[in-house]
Amino acid sequence: MSKILVTGGTGYIGSHTTVELQKEGFEVVIVDNLSNSNIDVLNGIEKITGIRPAFENIDCVDYVSMDRMFEKYQDIDAIIHFAANKAVGESVEKPLMYYRNNLVSLINILQLMPIHKVKSMVFSSSCTVYGQPDILPVTEQAPIKLAQSPYGNTKQIGEEIIHDTLAANADLQSIILRYFNPIGAHASAEIGELPNGVPNNLLPFVTQTAIGMRKQLSVFGNDYNTPDGSCVRDYIHVVDLAKAHVIAVKRLLEKNTNAQIETFNLGTGRGLSVLEIIETFIKVTGVDVPYKIVGRRSGDVEKVWADPSYANNVLGWTAAETVEETLRSAWAWEQNLAKRAEII
Ligand code: NAD
Ligand code: WQD
Repeated sequence: MSKILVTGGTGYIGSHTTVELQKEGFEVVIVDNLSNSNIDVLNGIEKITGIRPAFENIDCVDYVSMDRMFEKYQDIDAIIHFAANKAVGESVEKPLMYYRNNLVSLINILQLMPIHKVKSMVFSSSCTVYGQPDILPVTEQAPIKLAQSPYGNTKQIGEEIIHDTLAANADLQSIILRYFNPIGAHASAEIGELPNGVPNNLLPFVTQTAIGMRKQLSVFGNDYNTPDGSCVRDYIHVVDLAKAHVIAVKRLLEKNTNAQIETFNLGTGRGLSVLEIIETFIKVTGVDVPYKIVGRRSGDVEKVWADPSYANNVLGWTAAETVEETLRSAWAWEQNLAKRAEII
């Protein structure tokens, strides 16, 4: 049984990926410092899969503790590196926190891989590296635009660090996955997104408004050059995203590729506007979402959606879930969170 280190494994995408890895027979070791997640996530993973993954409360920035962790779990076969801070606004206020956390974590892992004979790493990147693409849908060949935030810059620099490090070490292999907008939750509603404080992202704000935690959703702008004037994104079900990681890990471990680095867009290929998301959510849940149109949010890209054909053809992966099902799953998760809060 292959053993996979999942950094950030109690986080949103990491927890869903852990579930899919365990379902496929992988053994998972999670490293997370719980800076943006809760230890209870392990209960959710165990409820779904019947297996509690190994867990280490370690900060990936701490080289010595990471080194000891690799010693303890001797035979790690591959790493999926999710651990990072991801709030765009916070990164503008605290750039050094983002550069230190996101880049030192990655550097530590890349440095420790050859020492502990781990050859393969999957890296979480983002469509944010494309900024506002000139051509849509955006392919992996599109130029990388000047980063809009320190967070976005950590993903661009992170990709460059991987390229430079692998160029100097022929034994290492990596798959870089550029996610579009992950939303939704596991169908069991046992795990999902746990936003900290007031959500910055659209979907948690929609579900929290629907459940009455927030009075009103603000739609940031309806004067964009899009069919209904609101911004357009490629929203992808988090479980579809998780499954792509399992395929990527297998591709590396089973040596299905000779390329040292491959980069894939993970999106649906379909762009949806903010207003379409709100309307579809109301339609599938039957719950109203009060909203008002306000001014544009600074730094927002007008429209972006993926050309996922490279991932479709090469990985044999497609985003299978409908947006209706995805929004239903997000709502079920929000309701489950509310139920838990009442119990506590
Ligand atoms: P998340 O915050 O839910 O998960 C990240 C996890 O990493 C958290 O559990 C956090 O506690 C942990 N962590 C952070 N810094 C750490 C450190 N130094 N050491 C150990 N653990 C640490 O975020 P997510 O949405 O699951 O994102 C996972 C990855 O995907 C991140 O790299 C993020 O930048 C990237 N990404 C996310 C999105 C998105 O919209 N959610 C889009 C594109 C890329
Ligand atoms: C989606 C749309 C908002 C909240 C961010 C990061 C990006 C990536 C994914 C990690 C936009 C609108 C939102 C609200 C709104 N993360 N909106 N009202 O901005 O596409 O991307 O998450 O890599 O790097 O920048 O996602 O969910 O914040 O916004 O109208 O209360 O919803 O303007 O058009 P975004 P988002």
